[in-house]
Amino acid sequence: MLLTIESTCDETAAAVIDDDGRVLGDCVATQETLHEKFQGVVPEIAARAHLERILPVIQTAMQKASVSSADLTAIAVADRPGLAGSLLVGVVAAKTLSLAWDKPLVAINHLHAHLYACQLATPTPVYPCIGLVVSGGHTSLYHCTSPLDLDYLGGTIDDAAGEAFDKVAAMLSLGFPGGPAVSKLAATGNRKAFQFPRSMLNKDNFDFSFSGLKTAVRYAITGPGQTDFSKLEIADDVKADVCASFEAAVVDVLVGKARKAVAKHRVNRLIVGGGVAANGYLREQLQQAATKHGFEVIIAPMDLCTDNAVMGAIALQKIRRGEFADLTLDITPGLQR
Ligand code: KG4
Ligand code: ZN
Repeated sequence: MLLTIESTCDETAAAVIDDDGRVLGDCVATQETLHEKFQGVVPEIAARAHLERILPVIQTAMQKASVSSADLTAIAVADRPGLAGSLLVGVVAAKTLSLAWDKPLVAINHLHAHLYACQLATPTPVYPCIGLVVSGGHTSLYHCTSPLDLDYLGGTIDDAAGEAFDKVAAMLSLGFPGGPAVSKLAATGNRKAFQFPRSMLNKDNFDFSFSGLKTAVRYAITGPGQTDFSKLEIADDVKADVCASFEAAVVDVLVGKARKAVAKHRVNRLIVGGGVAANGYLREQLQQAATKHGFEVIIAPMDLCTDNAVMGAIALQKIRRGEFADLTLDITPGLQR
């Protein structure tokens, strides 16, 4: 029985998972209200909040599962990538419990775990496949031959898709995190109202760029040069059109590139994980592309798109391979692949 710990960004999470991958108890404490007024995650605040929450969250997950430390066979923790201070809290907690309870330690790559959430959604193996991670910090494509064997094909060269959602939401004073708010408003808008760029869609690689799109949205709202969005009065229907056109541009690029990767690598399956995978329009367009082009798409279940510790079940795969960490485990914040 496994205890998994997740603290890569602004969610503190823990789960207890049995050897067959069944979730016996889990707990997620979000920090949304702490970061809301800054319209983005403030690393220092995130780290301090993790520190306050990590032990109660672990305790809650274990209580829900009705297990004690004696029942655990390993402790797993996401050690990469993420915010340094946030990662440190989870890794130090996991190492301390590993030492105190004499349990083996397993290190998890958070991006691989986001994709593993797709495998948790279906009893049949999803590999080999193309994996698309779309989160607040990453937008990456992989060729995956197993949960742990991922070949990086490309990723964002500037902003991540989720980051673009959050920044557009901030420009329109829609709150934080921006993805759900932009998505809600987009559903009422016209996706063709603004012609926003589909950057790198037709480039012959698997990289992404969303910063030009963000700038195009800014100019559409304010005109060049204006930076103080708080003083702008934007009509609700214009906001909806901006959101709808922006969302269409992001989704076109994500779907287009993922589809090309599926074709190039001759696989017939695409798996999609990370916070932005919760986006309804993206889910719908992925399904449509899959039907049209004859491949299967498996998107992480809604409750496992944003950060959670259940996807830490990927640690069972590492245990099967005998891949354990030890007390020298350190964080790797900047990993892009
Ligand atoms: O995977 P995640 O929880 O954290 C990271 O690992 O970064 O992703 C968070 C990101 C945020 O940028 C948030 O705005 C975005 O996922 N997000 C969405 C939606 N729900 C969350 N973006 C678009 N549409 C959504 N429905
Ligand atoms: Zn994440």
